[in-house]
Amino acid sequence: MSMPPMPVDTSILPSLKEDLAARPRQLFINGEFVDAQSGETFDVIDPATGKVFAQSAAGDAADVDAAVKAARKRFDSGAWSGMPPARRARIMTKLADLIEANASRIALTETLDNGMPLMMGYFGGVMAASETLRYNAGWATKINGETFTPSHPGEFHAYTSREPVGVVGGIVPWNFPFVMGVAKMAQALAAGCTIVLKPAEQTPLSTAILGELVAEAGFPEGAVNIVTGFGKTAGAALVEHPLVDKISFTGSTVTGKQIVHACTGNLKRVTLELGGKSPVIIFADADLSKAIPSAAMGIFGNAGQVCAAGSRLFVHESVRDEVLAGIAGIAKSLKVGSGLDPATQMGPLVSDAQFARVTGYIESALAEGASIHTGGEKASVEGSEGGYFIQPTVLTDTRPGMKAVEEEIFGPVLSTMTFGDDDLETVAAAANNTQYGLNASVFTRNIYNGLKMAKRIRSGMVNINGAGGGPDPAMPLGGFKQSGWGRENGRAGVEAFTEIKSVTVNLNE
Ligand code: NAI
Ligand code: MG
Repeated sequence: MSMPPMPVDTSILPSLKEDLAARPRQLFINGEFVDAQSGETFDVIDPATGKVFAQSAAGDAADVDAAVKAARKRFDSGAWSGMPPARRARIMTKLADLIEANASRIALTETLDNGMPLMMGYFGGVMAASETLRYNAGWATKINGETFTPSHPGEFHAYTSREPVGVVGGIVPWNFPFVMGVAKMAQALAAGCTIVLKPAEQTPLSTAILGELVAEAGFPEGAVNIVTGFGKTAGAALVEHPLVDKISFTGSTVTGKQIVHACTGNLKRVTLELGGKSPVIIFADADLSKAIPSAAMGIFGNAGQVCAAGSRLFVHESVRDEVLAGIAGIAKSLKVGSGLDPATQMGPLVSDAQFARVTGYIESALAEGASIHTGGEKASVEGSEGGYFIQPTVLTDTRPGMKAVEEEIFGPVLSTMTFGDDDLETVAAAANNTQYGLNASVFTRNIYNGLKMAKRIRSGMVNINGAGGGPDPAMPLGGFKQSGWGRENGRAGVEAFTEIKSVTVNLNE
């Protein structure tokens, strides 16, 4: 695979590392950088080395309370929600420009923190974030209601308006920390909401840069607040806070369910973007030159730590050997290493806990009768002995009922199943045999079959012959079944940060 030239200025890495080591990252509350009220910090670990390289403020309930009160005050003042939408859009666009102006620093921070290849941090993190901001800035001037003709006798003027839902708690995971934080923020801000963002404890650093840029862009104080800290403390305090109107969460299905329970206190609105176990279906007539690399990078990209990862392969038995050989060839040739190495195509897993989880799933699959077609071991990377590297892995002899086939692994581990006839109902039933319903890929040259499969698959996203890249801010993203509630992105994404108000005017004098 050929790679575009490196757009990141890596010469700033030594000074960036020095700065990260010199002072803990702070919370961003009401327009100011502050320590946690407790004074506590936590270690930030570089997953490519297993070593601590920075500290971040450990915000807890007291800090969340201060941040929520700042967001509440700013929301209730109308200084953001009442600002002319074109001006709101302008500030959001300014933030997009500032993000691009700081692209190298953000991308390098993302790689140090999460481990992802620098190119991914740049394109999938920084550039995707600025595009998301620009896209959503466009919605600020386009969120409108409808007019109606009531059926009551007489004359009426009736309409709906869409108003911001209020104070939003945004909780993001560690797999794409920057772009996910920015996406939640962008949609909430476009709708006129204010927000408290809680990044994952594994990856708190890139969002701290976001605080600086938010301050520079000219948002009113308190419109955006960032509290780093742990899920059980900061996260739990945010979802329980009575002054928060909505939680927008991305993460595991288990935590998503806990959040739903915690939000019942004041009946917060909740949207959830959760896990997946997405099928990749390759028919006998597929263009294998497309299907093979798509299937491989759909599970090995970002070391499989992608909610929409294609983790269950269903391949027609007539092309099984060719497909498996192709995917295994890519697995073996992928350069696994530190994300800072420009040659790296797959970085480490995010943490030792994630490494233990992924290897645990591989072991359980083997214990249940699966075989390793390729990979399955810790990957050794010269100069990075303490890193959480794992080989891209393909399992065969996998079948429904095995833990590794049923559950989200969130690692570069592909389960493979075959099918013998082309009966679409049978293939779709196998693909749908999961608690999840986030994403699905279908490869076929028969457009009838491709579109018929798209109808039969129960998932929030389907791509036929390859998705062509990461999520598009204009396309709704989210899941059926236990993959979540609601959608992010697109019109649906922004509207999820609004309430509908129905207004009826009686014109009968
Ligand atoms: P997690 O869902 O527990 O963490 C995600 C975010 O939720 C973090 O910011 C965390 O601090 C916060 N959080 C945790 N507990 C909370 C609580 N009780 N109240 C409020 N916020 C809370 O995910 P975790 O433990 O980091 O990863 C475990 C597994 O979850 C992964 O192996 C993967 O399968 C899945 N996962 C899925 C993601 C997706 O995008 N679908 C993203 C991250 C993890
Ligand atoms: Mg980290």
